[in-house]
Amino acid sequence: MLKDRLGRPLKDLRISVTDRCNFRCFFCMPSDREIEFLPRSEILTYEEIARIVRVARSLGVRKVRITGGEPLVRANLERLIGMIARTGVEDIAITTNGYLLSGKALTLREAGLNRITVSLPTLREERFRKIAGREVSLGRVLEGIEEAVKAGFKPVKVNMVVVRGFNEDEILDIAEFCRERGLVLRFIEFMDVGTLNGWSLDKVFTAEEILKVLRTRYTLEEVGKHDPSETALSYRYGDADLTVGIIASVTKPFCHSCSRLRISADGKVFTCLFSSEGFDLKRLLRSGCSDEEIASFLKCVWSAREDRYSELRWDLMGRNLRKVEMFRVGG
Ligand code: GTP
Ligand code: 5AD
Ligand code: SF4
Ligand code: SF4
Repeated sequence: MLKDRLGRPLKDLRISVTDRCNFRCFFCMPSDREIEFLPRSEILTYEEIARIVRVARSLGVRKVRITGGEPLVRANLERLIGMIARTGVEDIAITTNGYLLSGKALTLREAGLNRITVSLPTLREERFRKIAGREVSLGRVLEGIEEAVKAGFKPVKVNMVVVRGFNEDEILDIAEFCRERGLVLRFIEFMDVGTLNGWSLDKVFTAEEILKVLRTRYTLEEVGKHDPSETALSYRYGDADLTVGIIASVTKPFCHSCSRLRISADGKVFTCLFSSEGFDLKRLLRSGCSDEEIASFLKCVWSAREDRYSELRWDLMGRNLRKVEMFRVGG
């Protein structure tokens, strides 16, 4: 099994299919910042992505997550899902803002998508527009979630980024919304990804605080991680056959078991969500290389990997790192 310098196996591939998004969430891609997007010619084709997945699978990758930007803004995503499914990879998931999901969920499922996660930072229309930085309707996202459930994705997951002063007052509302529909909710601590989102520690509503709020209404029992590389700490509701999770990358980092490799839309390989630079796989792909050469490239990158940003955050923070933006490399 392929392991990195800290003994972590390569198991998951997160592929960003576009750096574009129909939202401008302030915690990711604030609307007042000028952003330069990749030209089409720089973006990997579906054939190139499927080829990478096929090779990565031969190196031990079992799980592929499609991300963005917003992955559903890319045309015919179902074609890519079908191509990835045909590589034989066991688990194909997508993380989406849900805006383009209604009318698409069943097609995605039929193409071979196994799991869907939808981001939902609020249940209030007005606040939704404020967070998303665009005149968009929350109702459409909720319809998308409903369709994903109807299409048979089990479970549908919901991600709620909690930012102090913006939405911590909705923790219980969103928990209730998800409980009523059997959705697996994960709260995410606001992270210092990229350089644009104005992050500061005082805006992090911590895992401990989230749990405290949840316990004012629910009985929760901690359940261990199924897989050590999972991002979320999971809790089971005392009165429902459902779990709820907290992704505590700031206060309880999980780098020691991080088995994720990321590919940006322009074919750079990133070994950490907080990396400054990626390794240029696209250049190799477009030079007419063999599958063996792609495999050696990935092996070389993974074997040299020693990233653990979240565990070293407080030491690294003062160094003004040029961190990649999350919308370029997927969440
Ligand atoms: P499952 O495959 O269902 O376990 O989902 P996941 O947790 O891997 O994927 P998802 O896209 O739902 O991730 C949820 C969030 O966790 C992401 O949007 C990020 O905010 C955060 N996250 C995921 N992977 C990492 C990671 O490697 N490092 C850090 N710091 N955060 C991560
Ligand atoms: N901190 C934590 N999570 C974030 N996301 C986007 N920006 C941040 C941030 N700064 C989440 C989105 C989505 C996933 C891709 O990452 O809400 O669920
Ligand atoms: Fe778009 Fe997701 Fe970033 Fe929001 S968090 S701007 S939906 S990529
Ligand atoms: Fe993995 Fe980097 Fe996130 Fe740590 S900070 S869990 S190494 S992606």
